[in-house]
Amino acid sequence: MQLRDNGLRFSPITVALHWVVAISLLAIFGLQLWIGHASSEAQQLALGRVQNLLGLILFLVSSYRFWARITSYHPLPVGTPNPIEVIISRSVAVSLALAMVLLPIAVWASRAAAGEVLQLPGGLWIPSLLPVNPTLKHVVDVLFAIGASAFLAGLALHVFGAAKNHFLLKNNTLKRMLGKHVEL
Ligand code: HEM
Repeated sequence: MQLRDNGLRFSPITVALHWVVAISLLAIFGLQLWIGHASSEAQQLALGRVQNLLGLILFLVSSYRFWARITSYHPLPVGTPNPIEVIISRSVAVSLALAMVLLPIAVWASRAAAGEVLQLPGGLWIPSLLPVNPTLKHVVDVLFAIGASAFLAGLALHVFGAAKNHFLLKNNTLKRMLGKHVEL
């Protein structure tokens, strides 16, 4: 099995982890909505623990992905896109991967600075190694808000690019990310 991306194609690991991240992120947003409508505090806490677990998975998978992205070749684009678009789309993709490493750290740091322990299902938890400090929490929260807004803008651009390639340019960019073998 091809373990790393090369100039001609994404590795199956990249393809699989890309969609693990996209689905985990969607599940985190879905759980947030569910928590808002939960009938009891106990249910909110249980859903919050699942959300924390997904955040941890996102962090671990994205740490690997970010490293893999910057240490391997990015496959050539499908078709003949404008070089500026290629540079922008690749920079956005790398930033999205980095954001999925930094944003979960910010959530953990904010909770730790507020004196909260990040609980996981099964009675597990993530140790809060930072001191309780309201000023630190405020700084981290501001940084998180800025980072999350930039992330959402980048994600919108990324999904728009994928939709444009698929529906308007009718090329195989999205199908390649879904595992289709594309000859370049
Ligand atoms: C519905 C959601 C998404 C769609 C339709 C989508 C689509 C795509 C497509 C078509 C590519 C291949 C681009 C190319 O050929 O160069 C790609 C690559 C990439 N996408 Fe997404 N994407 C989505 C969500 C996400 C999310 C949530 C993230 C990260 C938070 C992300 C990060 C990346 C990265 C880093 C790459 C470069 C390849 C890699 O290292 O995985 N994408 N995406």
